Amino acid sequence: MSRGNKRIPVYKLGFRKALYGAIPIVGFTWGLVFVYFGSSIAEGIVAAATMGILSFLTFFIIDYKVDYKRLMMLERISKNISKKRFEEVDDKTSSTNDELDYVIKKLVKSNRTVEREIQRLNRIENYRKEFIGDISHELKTPIFAIQGFVETLLNGALEDEKVNRKFLQKAMKNVARLIYLTKDLMEISKLETGELKSEMEEVCLYDIINDVVESLQDKAQKEQVNLFIEEMNQNLRVRADKSQLRQVLINLIENGIKYNVPQGSVRIELIPAEGPEKITLNIEDTGIGIDEADLPRVTERFFRVDKSRSRERGGTGLGLAIVKHIIEAHGEILKIQSEPNKGSKFSISLTRVDGGENIHGFDQEALSEIRK
Ligand SMILES: Nc1ncnc2c1ncn2[C@@H]1O[C@H](COP(=O)(O)OP(=O)(O)OP(=O)(O)O)[C@@H](O)[C@H]1O
Ligand SMILES: [Mg+2]
Repeated sequence: MSRGNKRIPVYKLGFRKALYGAIPIVGFTWGLVFVYFGSSIAEGIVAAATMGILSFLTFFIIDYKVDYKRLMMLERISKNISKKRFEEVDDKTSSTNDELDYVIKKLVKSNRTVEREIQRLNRIENYRKEFIGDISHELKTPIFAIQGFVETLLNGALEDEKVNRKFLQKAMKNVARLIYLTKDLMEISKLETGELKSEMEEVCLYDIINDVVESLQDKAQKEQVNLFIEEMNQNLRVRADKSQLRQVLINLIENGIKYNVPQGSVRIELIPAEGPEKITLNIEDTGIGIDEADLPRVTERFFRVDKSRSRERGGTGLGLAIVKHIIEAHGEILKIQSEPNKGSKFSISLTRVDGGENIHGFDQEALSEIRK
């Protein structure tokens, strides 16, 4: 056992226990030999001492075998916890499941809990550091732009009718970008730390898609992009968080419009997926596409293939990161396929809760009858 940091090689507890065990045996032997058998004092002392030593050694060895290793293990675990050093401990508990085993098991359990908690806190801390670095970098661009426009206005441009309005509009555009950025930042940080939970309910998929498409029609028209929904069952219901699913669709369809070409299109379709409960929602565009090398990175926060194109359109590079987190929190899958200059297809899996009605909104059997 140890005192402070210095290890003392004597098993003090075992020594004490063996001593306490040997004392009654010495007394008993003395009584038996000296009083009962009437032997001499010398004989009594020899017999009592011999029995005392033998019983001391026996008790000490038994105790050493039974408890010493387990006590050492307890010491090692608690030392490791205090040094925040976590290692797998071999099971040295005995088969008897006594009180000492119970304490060891409890300590091993607390060791794992503390380890998990420290790892979680480290993860959050690293995330926080990285996040703050990313944010300050992203905030700098619009803040410096606003500063530049305001300074130019103050330095005389304010009197110039031709430019003052234009500069104020540009400053305002950057203010809007800051507002958009802050909103997305709040959302992504809550999603990434697991603070924002998905409230799952049964939702009508078509209603949400239709709603989002209607709200983005104006934007699509301005960009000369044709936005349309393929024929689908309007009663189909899925399990999802309504506002999060809406957000996913907005982000994906907005990207389809933003990274498109004039006269291009964004098509939303529903197709069957593996498993009776699953369906796949595709958002497919005929836009600029994404290079194969960039594909794995597009869901990283703040990643943009073409920073200037994305910024010019108010993009913060958080849209797809938010989509990925929401889809994962739903236990679903996001797949991206893309070809530069041809277009991109974002597919998300969804779980239906409507008992498997036809996804295209018409009865397949009736259709095949008509076709005959
Ligand atoms: N449909 C798409 N076609 C081509 N490139 C895309 C498409 N969707 C996303 N990208 C690329 O992936 C990057 C990341 O997309 P994301 O939606 O995360 O950010 P953003 O659109 O730049 O900004 P935000 O969505 O936050 O406003 C984009 O900057 C763009 O380069
Ligand atoms: Mg986007």
